[in-house]
Amino acid sequence: QETEIIRDKLLAWYDKSKRDLPWRTMACTEPDLDRKAYAVWVSEVMLQQTQVATVIDYYNKWMKVWPTMEDLARSSLEEVNEMWSGLGYYSRGRRLQEGAKKVVLELGGSMPRSADELQKLLPGVGRYTAGAIASISYGQVTGVVDGNVIRVLSRLRCIGADSSTLAVSDKLWNLANALVDPDRPGDFNQGMMELGATVCTPKKPLCTACPLQGQCKAYLKVIAEKESAVKTL
Ligand code: ADE
Repeated sequence: QETEIIRDKLLAWYDKSKRDLPWRTMACTEPDLDRKAYAVWVSEVMLQQTQVATVIDYYNKWMKVWPTMEDLARSSLEEVNEMWSGLGYYSRGRRLQEGAKKVVLELGGSMPRSADELQKLLPGVGRYTAGAIASISYGQVTGVVDGNVIRVLSRLRCIGADSSTLAVSDKLWNLANALVDPDRPGDFNQGMMELGATVCTPKKPLCTACPLQGQCKAYLKVIAEKESAVKTL
């Protein structure tokens, strides 16, 4: 069935093609789950407005200085701002620190583990970041939609409408939630992001290298149009 084909093909491609990013190498098992969640949280906040290539150095430096949430909770705002220097949107770093303090001082040191709670309790954590942390770190079966995923899903289902409208955004979130693999939600979500970042690019997408070519309605439409153009010659 279509959904399962998409899951299997995307995950097989991700296993083979994923980039070695530092926040991906951490264990996803107890008792390290909260460490992993902290690492994913830091990386996702940095990635919100900054490209992967730039984030890697900042992420590594950050994790060296504050390897755990408890370390970050003990830091000062000046230190955080200095660490963030060059990344822009400094409120991201400040909110990350506020969140770490909240978890340590108010939540007994344990992270909320569902996307709903993460979004509700942590400053600066919106629907996307909450879904990313919950699926990648805690295995919650929840989809995520960011700029890359919007493009992949819009092409996959040939959704031409403006994704900044509430109706289209709802449709995309519903689609992401319906597609996400229940056995490997974090890998599935990262696979979608990775596909958008490296293959299903805004300009000149590399459709011949795409694992979802056969399932992509936009691709099939382009091919059909080319064929009918040839016939009318
Ligand atoms: N962009 C945002 N989050 C990402 C992730 N976890 N992997 C790759 N690209 C991303």
